Amino acid sequence: MLIAGNWKMHTTSAEAFTLASRICESVHSDGASEVVVCPPFVSMRAAADAVAGSRILLGAQTMFWETQGAFTGEVSAGMLLEFGCRFCIVGHSERRGRFGKSDLPANLLAYFSETDAVVARKFSAALGAGLIPILCVGETEKERAEHRTEQVIQTQLNAALCAGTDARFVIAYEPVWAIGTGDVCEPDEADRVCAFIRTAAKKAGTSEQFQVVYGGSVNAENARALLERESVEGVLVGGASLEPDEFSKIIAIGDEIAK
Ligand code: 13P
Repeated sequence: MLIAGNWKMHTTSAEAFTLASRICESVHSDGASEVVVCPPFVSMRAAADAVAGSRILLGAQTMFWETQGAFTGEVSAGMLLEFGCRFCIVGHSERRGRFGKSDLPANLLAYFSETDAVVARKFSAALGAGLIPILCVGETEKERAEHRTEQVIQTQLNAALCAGTDARFVIAYEPVWAIGTGDVCEPDEADRVCAFIRTAAKKAGTSEQFQVVYGGSVNAENARALLERESVEGVLVGGASLEPDEFSKIIAIGDEIAK
């Protein structure tokens, strides 16, 4: 059971330290689920200091696939490992430019548009460096209405998993329409799509060492119903992971179900 928090573009260093410290204080030190927080790069040091010696692990929100070079503004896997990062989110829909209910004009979306090929490189580079990538996949509201959920996800998975791997990774089913909208995916549907992802990832010939988790408007109220489903092996939490009490409750639910 994996309970991960994606802090997105929130928290200064001081705020990250406080948030991570409060999460550490409120969770059982020996819970059965694996807990990860993913702060912004610049707050990583502060978060690392706060979680040192606790069960809380660190992840990043993205990375670049090269190890070093003239790539202004980018961050390598090696730089993340130096902070003690164990995980790295890749292909989040916000980086793919697949915003849900966004009023961003089309000409600005291009600034965020990571393609499947870019995501695949990041996924492979993370694995190669010893990080555990959390690969995000999921359909938009329009694609869902057109009954294309499985097709869209299959394409996203094919691109990232084509190289095969024996190392551990995580796939997060994050329907774009459920992210930041309060419109959480019904547990039945999340379970069905997570099961599809598991089968598809296995067919891609990858290792057995992967988990499929759900993300999109998860909170302390709806987490149990999702986590109790057989194919939902964890959650990737956005907004609610910024509220220490809320996130700690989700962790406690994860611990209980993971026992
Ligand atoms: P919310 O939980 O805020 O909907 O965000 C989900 C998400 O994008 C996690 O990566």
